[in-house]
Amino acid sequence: MLRRPRRNRRNQAIRHLSQETHLQPHHLVQPVFLTEGNGVREEIPSLPGTYRLSLDEALAEIGQCLQMGIESFILFPKIPAHRKDKRGTFSYSPDNFYLQAATIIKGEYPQACLISDVALDPYSIDGHDGIVHSGKVLNDETLHVLQKMGVAQAEAGFDILGPSDMMDGRVEALRVALDEAGFADTGIMSYTAKYASAFYGPFRDALDSAPVEGEDIPADKKTYQMNPANRREALIEGELDTMEGADFLMVKPALHYMDVIALMKQHFELPIAAYHVSGECAMLIAACRNGWLDYEKAMPETLLSLHRAGADVIITYFAKDYAAMYQKGRLS
Ligand code: PBG
Repeated sequence: MLRRPRRNRRNQAIRHLSQETHLQPHHLVQPVFLTEGNGVREEIPSLPGTYRLSLDEALAEIGQCLQMGIESFILFPKIPAHRKDKRGTFSYSPDNFYLQAATIIKGEYPQACLISDVALDPYSIDGHDGIVHSGKVLNDETLHVLQKMGVAQAEAGFDILGPSDMMDGRVEALRVALDEAGFADTGIMSYTAKYASAFYGPFRDALDSAPVEGEDIPADKKTYQMNPANRREALIEGELDTMEGADFLMVKPALHYMDVIALMKQHFELPIAAYHVSGECAMLIAACRNGWLDYEKAMPETLLSLHRAGADVIITYFAKDYAAMYQKGRLS
């Protein structure tokens, strides 16, 4: 036999020499769920190990992550019911604790990259990412709200905006509004190929942001999020976002859409981000808690696989745990 692939697997040193993919903590983004108050640390029942945090707790958490080599954070707000309305106006109110928190976090940790969430759902009494009218989610009317929200977030100190709403034309609308307001350096990580997925459940529990049941309120997000059956459509979204000025293109969910990640990586020059969503993380946690999988082995393999598939950036609820293992030298 002239070729013996097993020679390169013979021992750890040779395996290291021939290793193709290396995943470091700075590739990861840690999601943080912010809630009002002080001293609040509420575990999300459907996503064990992830918490809703008040600002003081979030500051401590982010400080720990930074020490472990995580540099980027994506922040989401849990908005109290009495602040919600049809048009998500609290999203750009000076009273919004989410905006205030971003300013304080950025002041404390200027080296951290803070990514926002641009969408109406946490702020909407209908639980949709856009304005609902007569049973429809309105596209162009929603863009105006997204622009106000985006500029308010840039003013608050976010480094990158994360439009997760899937309205048509939102990247351009945000880019123009940011530039006009003097925020040419604020970036956009677009949720380019965001699918109407069943794997967002724990996230909606965390934020109390699921579509509300009611007459004239669409029961799901299928008129704006993509059909899970489609791959080529992701390229249309990718072309539009690139032309409209996005700085990162995201695929979401991640594990069930690795083919889309690979396709996007092949077609576009922009960095590709993958959102390893709440339901995908919850599945792994459940199997580990049952003793069916080993967390310290299955979790790093999952994240490495996403990187291998083409994700330059991975947003995952496991970021901190991965960084802890990395720091202790437990990833061989
Ligand atoms: C909504 C938004 C969702 C997630 C991020 N932003 C849920 C949805 O579209 O209903 C899901 C993230 C996760 O499940 O971890 N704008």
